[in-house]
Amino acid sequence: MSRWMPKIDHRKGPRYLAIADAMGDAIRDGSLQPEQRLPTHRDLAYDLGVTVGTVSRAYAEAVRRDYVIGEVGRGTYVKPDGEKRIPFYIPYDIDPNVFDFGLNFPAEGERVDLLRSSLMTLAQDPGLGAVMRYQSEQGMLHHRQSMAKWASQHGTPNDPDRIVISNGVQHAMTLSLMAQARAGDTLLCEEYTYPGIKGLATQLGLKLQGVPMDDKGLIPEKLEDIVIQTGARILYCMPNYQNPTSVIMPLDRRKEIADIAQKYGLWIIEDDIYGFLNDSLQDTIPFAQMLPEQTYYLNGSSKCVSPGLRVGFVLAPERKVKTVAACVRLSSWMAAPLNVEIISRWVEDGTAFQQMEWHREEASRRREIVLKYLDDQDIMSTDHTYHSWLKLASPWTADTFVMRARERDVSIMPASTFHVGRGTPINAVRICYGAPPSIENVEEGMKRLGQLIHEEIHAFESVM
Ligand SMILES: Cc1ncc(COP(=O)(O)O)c(C=O)c1O
Repeated sequence: MSRWMPKIDHRKGPRYLAIADAMGDAIRDGSLQPEQRLPTHRDLAYDLGVTVGTVSRAYAEAVRRDYVIGEVGRGTYVKPDGEKRIPFYIPYDIDPNVFDFGLNFPAEGERVDLLRSSLMTLAQDPGLGAVMRYQSEQGMLHHRQSMAKWASQHGTPNDPDRIVISNGVQHAMTLSLMAQARAGDTLLCEEYTYPGIKGLATQLGLKLQGVPMDDKGLIPEKLEDIVIQTGARILYCMPNYQNPTSVIMPLDRRKEIADIAQKYGLWIIEDDIYGFLNDSLQDTIPFAQMLPEQTYYLNGSSKCVSPGLRVGFVLAPERKVKTVAACVRLSSWMAAPLNVEIISRWVEDGTAFQQMEWHREEASRRREIVLKYLDDQDIMSTDHTYHSWLKLASPWTADTFVMRARERDVSIMPASTFHVGRGTPINAVRICYGAPPSIENVEEGMKRLGQLIHEEIHAFESVM
C-alpha cells in the first residue's frame, strides 16, 4: 500500500490541524483504511515539507479525536473500524500557541456541562416536537416572555409583545437597520465602534459617520452638530461597556443624548450585549426606558452565556415590531427555536443570571492580571470588563505595537479596526482577555505584552 499523503495546501489554519482534518476526511472517504499504518512522523514531515514537531502535534490531535491509536515501537494506526468510530467532532482553528487577546470572546467556564444536562432534560420533554416546526417570525410567546424578563433586568420595560427573537445580536443589528434605514441614509455611531457595524453599514449602502467620544462616551454637543450637518436620523451605540473602550455612559450623559434624540427625531439602536457586566444597573437607565418609542434595544446570549447558540432579540418600538418581524422572515424566516428554548429555560430557572454573575467574576480576575502588567499605562478599563483600551505613549504606534506583539505570539487589535472616519486613529489597542483558555494563559500573554510595552523601541524604529 502506498504511503498516505494528505493534501493540506487548500486547508486554512495551523498546519497540524490541517493534517488532522485531512486524516478525518481520508478515514471517512475510505482512502485511509481501518488498521492502516500511518507514515512515521519523520517521513510525513519530509513529504509535506513541515517540521517533525508539526506532524507529532497532528498525530496527537488525531488521537484526541479518536481517529488513530499510537503504540510505542509499532507506530500510529487508524483505529479498527475507524470509519464508523469517527465521533461527533466540530473542527476548530484555535492555535494554542497564540495568546488570543484579539477577539472579544467570553471565557468558557462550565457552559458545556450546562448544555449537556439541558439537552438531556429536553430530550425527555413530551413537547419537544414544537421546536421542529416553523414558528411565527416574531418568536414563540413563552420565548418572548423570557427575553422580555431578561431585558427588564437591564432596566427596559417588560413587554413580550415588543420582543422579536433573532439569531444573535449581529442579526438583531441587521434587522433593526433593515427596518429603519434605507440605502444612502447616514448612520451615526461612536467614533470607535464594534467593527460588525462597519461591515453591515457598507453592505446596506449606509454612510457611516463617527461621533467624537470622551471618557463618558458620545459627546452630546458633537452629536447635535453632526445631526444638524448631516440630517442623520439613526444612531447605533453601546452605552454599557462600549466596544472597544469599555466606557459606561453615565446617567446624565444618557439624558443629554436622549434629549437630542427626542428633539431631532433620532432613532437609537442600543446594543447592550455587554450590559450584563454592569452590576450597578440602577445607575444606568437604558435608552429603551427613556425613549421606548424611538429605541431598538438589542441583547443576546453570545457574551453572557454562549455565542454558539446564536440567541438574540430586539425590543422594538411598538410601531416597528411588525416590520422587524417581517425582516426576520426575509433574512432567516425565524430564529432556531431549539436554541431559544434552551436560553429561555436558563432565564426562567436563573441559570442565565448565574452565568452572568460568573462572567463578572471571571472577567474581574482576568482584568486584575491585565492591570498588573499595565499599571503605569494610560488604560481605559471599567470594573468587570473583558475588554480594555490601552492608549500607547510615543514612540509606539498602534500598528508597530500590534506587529511586535504578534512576533511574541500575542494577538491584539489596533485602533484602526474600530475607527470610523477619514482622520488618523489614535495610537491605541484593544486588549480582550476572555478568549485565552485559562488564567495562566492570560498571565503568560500579559507578561509578554508588559515586557514589550516597557521595551525601548528606538533601535527597532531605526531599522524601519
Ligand atoms: C458590540 C457587539 N455587538 C454585537 C456583537 C455580535 O454578537 P452576536 O455574536 O450575538 O451576533 C458583538 C460581538 O463581538 C459585539 O461586540
